[in-house]
Amino acid sequence: MEKRIAIIEGDGIGPEIMAEAVKVLRCIEQLYGHSFTYVPVCAGGCAIDRFGTSLPKESLQACLDSDSVLLAAVGGPKWDGVDPSIRPEKALLSIRKELGLYANLRPAKIFSQLKDASPLKPSIVEKGIDFMVVRELIGGVYFGAKKTEEVDGELYASDNMCYYEHEIRRIAHTAFQTARKRHSRVVSVDKANVLDTSRLWRKIVHEVAEEYPDVQCADMLVDNAAMQIVKDPAQFDVVVTENMFGDILSDEASMITGSIGLIPSASLGESKRGMYEPIHGSAPDIAGQNIANPIGMILSAGLMLKYAFDLDEEQKLIEEAVEQVLIDGYRCSDIMEEGKKKLTCSEMGDQIVETMQKIKG
Ligand code: IPM
Ligand code: MG
Repeated sequence: MEKRIAIIEGDGIGPEIMAEAVKVLRCIEQLYGHSFTYVPVCAGGCAIDRFGTSLPKESLQACLDSDSVLLAAVGGPKWDGVDPSIRPEKALLSIRKELGLYANLRPAKIFSQLKDASPLKPSIVEKGIDFMVVRELIGGVYFGAKKTEEVDGELYASDNMCYYEHEIRRIAHTAFQTARKRHSRVVSVDKANVLDTSRLWRKIVHEVAEEYPDVQCADMLVDNAAMQIVKDPAQFDVVVTENMFGDILSDEASMITGSIGLIPSASLGESKRGMYEPIHGSAPDIAGQNIANPIGMILSAGLMLKYAFDLDEEQKLIEEAVEQVLIDGYRCSDIMEEGKKKLTCSEMGDQIVETMQKIKG
């Protein structure tokens, strides 16, 4: 199989963890006889430094011309002062929007070897943590009209939260279809006791639910959901929610699995061309030290193989190798425990590649 992959290293630890993901992909090429072309694409803070904008036209075009986009992380305090219209995060939001990536899948799954890394009590963790956050990604308050102005002698700012019916309908379908491949339970999270957008959300989700009589569907208010995720995460299978609620809940969901550094994500639209990225940020405080955990990035590359290229077996090999490396007692510093072997970022990549080769025999 031949594929073009747009590679956005971005900022902070981005280049370090991306190098490990590419290492793993090259191993996949070798083991399965595929041929991937890696197209470096400049976006984020580094693009502001070089081109004065976080997403140059050429960069967006390179993404559109590729079969898939792999992104590490963008942003950092260095660009805190830049105009909001060119902030590093704007690049990410623009790519999501321009590629029509309305569905963001963020698995929250605990590796059995990392139970002690979870901040939750063992009695809660033992019941199991394995659910999928399905986050709407190109609507809501992130993309509504925003402005800052002076009103009556003081500053006033507003961000408009808005949803069209069709935007809710399509993400609801994604959630129910995802649930069918899992345990057929959807919890739709909203704030329907306060927000109009949430009341519309709930109405449309219920309509779509009727098309999936085999899938259980329940509503939950977002504040309660935030509480339930730490109280009894085992109750969840698929959680579907709007953009900002999903942003917040997916960080919470990832943390209870032990480390935000382990969780990949897939952003999908109507076409096969999606974007794949770990859910963590650019961690500028540890950038350049070769100590970041590349596992979330590597698993994101795995999701790309599965969703964009239908390479299920290849994705499973990556997942299996990561699990084996954890079983073998290797850790990066974020999940280091006594008695384990601490690896640097690049050593972790090497260890995963070596394990893939061993498993594939
Ligand atoms: C995420 C990030 C982004 C978001 C930021 C960097 C714009 O937090 O992917 O969750 O809010 O979507
Ligand atoms: Mg976030």
